Amino acid sequence: MSDSKARLSIGDTILELDKLEATVGQPAIDIRRLRADAGHVTFDPGFANTANARSEITYINGAAGELRHRGYQIEDLAINCSFLEVAYLLLYGKLPNRTELEAWELDISTHTLLNEEMRSFFDAFPRRAHPMAVLSSATNAISTFYDVYRRPTRKQEIDSGARTLIAKMPTVAAWAFKKSIGEPYVYPDNNLDYVENFLHMMFTRPVEDVPIDPAVVKALNVLLILHADHGQNCSTATVRAVGSSRANMFTSVAAGMGALWGPLHGGANQSVIEMLQVIHDDPDATIDSTIARAKDKDDDFRLMGFGHRVYSNYDPRARVLKSYAEDVLDRMETSDPLLEIARELEAAALADDYFASRKLYPNVDFYSGIIFRALGFPERMFTVLFAIGRIPGWIANWMEMNSDPDTRIMRPRQLYVGETARDFVPLDQR
Ligand code: CMC
Repeated sequence: MSDSKARLSIGDTILELDKLEATVGQPAIDIRRLRADAGHVTFDPGFANTANARSEITYINGAAGELRHRGYQIEDLAINCSFLEVAYLLLYGKLPNRTELEAWELDISTHTLLNEEMRSFFDAFPRRAHPMAVLSSATNAISTFYDVYRRPTRKQEIDSGARTLIAKMPTVAAWAFKKSIGEPYVYPDNNLDYVENFLHMMFTRPVEDVPIDPAVVKALNVLLILHADHGQNCSTATVRAVGSSRANMFTSVAAGMGALWGPLHGGANQSVIEMLQVIHDDPDATIDSTIARAKDKDDDFRLMGFGHRVYSNYDPRARVLKSYAEDVLDRMETSDPLLEIARELEAAALADDYFASRKLYPNVDFYSGIIFRALGFPERMFTVLFAIGRIPGWIANWMEMNSDPDTRIMRPRQLYVGETARDFVPLDQR
């Protein structure tokens, strides 16, 4: 048997399965013929051992705590790039040159306006609506204004859908926020750059001109880059799953937003702050009692912002954010008691054998909430900010899936453990 094959024996059947090489990282065993040739399926809840796609977008080495987009280290991108530059990289596979970047920025900045009829859409939601629900509904709704996005087929239409989503998301997010606080919607200003424009729509009020702080712009730019993509995670796999039925990019991304909202995924950033706030406010909740609860198998509480499906090392995004959190708070001359609690909680967890033995380290959500707070965002917007950052990653994956001849409609198998065949019992005999 050559090295390019893996051998699997099931009873008397011996299968030789192809090994598929990765350019870097773990190779895969091609099991596509397994069911047909050996009458078995694989059992892998959560797909922790299953490659859902061939992808050229993002590489993660969980053991080393490494993250690269299109080959570039996340740390280099976070320090040197604008969010739109990274978005271009994710979508088109290369860093744009100056001319390409300027054209891309112009293209995005001239598509920020929502159709005026979308106003009534925001008006119809109750004030207390969570902005994530509004965001995902609006993402679906935008496509209804453009017939071509219902089933884009040509590259030009797909590129235009990508541009529309990236350009309009900050407007949607800011309007969802304004709705929730009962203030008038602020229209985009195309003279501002992407991040400035978002802050303008979020914080401008009819009664006062709120200046845009360059330190806030810089910090938010870094945060968006750190969230831009992360391989085949729950929301990205959802985007691909929905898109595999040839559903359009908008509805696929809207589904991804639903997956992101959960507290075990992007919703963790809001949950981290809620957890830190409880420790701060509740005299019965201490660092020790919080750690004890997280370790207690009879309590479903988890230490929010800790652990990761892929990283068995410090999440590189958390490392960037930890130093950034201190820097941002210093530069903004503000202090946050929750940052001190976060530091103590992290130190206590890292020193605890439960977390050490399970390789549970802080993830991106542990420090992002602290920075979002310092920048003036309310907690309910945290996952929305994650979503704005993740849009390019979702779209890049949708595009890659859409152009991959190996893509098949998502249709997992199951290990059926229910009743065997039963005789039907008429209603009056039950
Ligand atoms: N607190 C306490 N125990 C934990 C935690 C935690 N945060 N995370 C994992 N464990 C334990 C878990 O109970 C299990 O213990 P045992 O071996 O005794 O049964 C062991 O560690 C392995 O856990 P797992 O559930 O198999 O790990 P997973 O890879 O399936 O889950 C996770 C990954 C992120 C869902 C989980 O670590 C978690 O729930 N973390 C808290 C939520 C969170 O911060 N999510 C943000 C993830 S990063 C942002 C993003 O989504 O991209």
